[in-house]
Amino acid sequence: KSYMAEPYKIKVVEKIGVTTREQREEAIKKAGYNTFLLDSQDVYIDLLTDSGTNAMSDDQWAGLMKGDEAYAGSKNFKTLKNAVQDLMGFEYVVPTHQGRGAENILSQITIKEGDYVPGNMYFTTTRAHQEMNGATFRDVVIDEAHDSTYEHPFKGNVDLDKYQALIDEVGADKIPYICLAVTVNLAGGQPVSMENIKAVAEISRKNGILVMMDCTRFVENAAFIKEREEGYQDKSIKEIVKEMFSYADGATMSGKKDGLVNIGGFLALNDPDLYTKATALVVVFEGMPSYGGMTGRDMEAIAIGLYESCEYNYISHRLEQVRYLGKKLEEAGVPIVKPIGGHAVFLDAKEFYDHIPQDEFPAQTLAANLYVESGVRSMERGIVSAGRNKEGNHYYPKLELVRLTIPRRVYTYAHLDVVADSVIELYKNRKNAKGLKFVYEPPVLRFFTARFELL
Ligand code: F0G
Repeated sequence: KSYMAEPYKIKVVEKIGVTTREQREEAIKKAGYNTFLLDSQDVYIDLLTDSGTNAMSDDQWAGLMKGDEAYAGSKNFKTLKNAVQDLMGFEYVVPTHQGRGAENILSQITIKEGDYVPGNMYFTTTRAHQEMNGATFRDVVIDEAHDSTYEHPFKGNVDLDKYQALIDEVGADKIPYICLAVTVNLAGGQPVSMENIKAVAEISRKNGILVMMDCTRFVENAAFIKEREEGYQDKSIKEIVKEMFSYADGATMSGKKDGLVNIGGFLALNDPDLYTKATALVVVFEGMPSYGGMTGRDMEAIAIGLYESCEYNYISHRLEQVRYLGKKLEEAGVPIVKPIGGHAVFLDAKEFYDHIPQDEFPAQTLAANLYVESGVRSMERGIVSAGRNKEGNHYYPKLELVRLTIPRRVYTYAHLDVVADSVIELYKNRKNAKGLKFVYEPPVLRFFTARFELL
């Protein structure tokens, strides 16, 4: 057997669009060669993101019917709170509309002007909230994380020397918390080891700095620990998850990933004073503390999703699916980020189109060409996403990537075969590809709405 079969069967199906190459050429031109601007109806296999694109289970759909939509004291809030207490061990839960809602509240209750927030690589919305509250973000991930080919089992680890150096430089009183992402999205879905989490917590406790996890993809992190870290092979995912969070003071969660739902998130905390501050803000930005940004039925679905996510068969199948695609590409010589991460396979567009200079947008070009080739939608994560500096020049990020993000429980191995075959086909014809130039460039977060034309 070359792969693990799906640990679920199909009960409901959704038709997907089948288009001709001519139609796709027309569609991508209309979308300004930006996959964010394509209509989903024109997409065959949608690997833009794993966020909010999950397939819910029959139990979750049944849970929706149990929604208690009371304005205050919904019973589903208790279900969610119990699930978070049981699985993660946090005392308090503040429901939010999605991950960035939790990031907003956490940043406001902890950061003061002039502070620093260290993190193991940045994430766009997370850093934006830290900066909007007056903090400076400092990247303390290990150097290897910025090198696409470096094989490291825990490439999301914090460089403890970098962390200590920041404390020595600015003083612990200027660091309200360290944002520890488990796993690290922009490094390629790379995990953090338990040993590293423990060490980060030790330094933090000694210096009075809080450990706040971005636990958006925490189950993927736990599964990598089980696979790769000495002493964890015989532990259950639940046990590993519990231990991971035992080193944290709180966490922000986007339920749209490992919560196995389409919308929702929360902020989890242990400190009663911080919780009180968070409830004072959640009523301003989201809603009553007992629903925040979610309906009762959404809270029920995410509570069930958290449990399903921690099932070993579910998560090992997910990691295998992602690896299946990655290995097929690797065997054909296609340059990808290694090791293969938890939620996506990242194509190294700098290598793939080594004749296209970075300011002619190799990753943007590759994402557009992949769509034309087979109707597969992916996401640029390179120079276009990185934006411009204050002087108005492009940032030139080391990693110029295309992300093939796998939604949870949505696609089969046959879909992934289509994806692999079309990427390999493009790779064979790579010399024919030409870059792009901007015809419209928005001032911030330009990747969402920028438009290009062929050079
Ligand atoms: N943290 C990480 C690591 C994320 O990947 C995301 C979202 C968020 C926080 C914000 O959560 O979207 O629920 O507000 N990542 C999505 C992606 C958008 O495509 O990677 P949100």
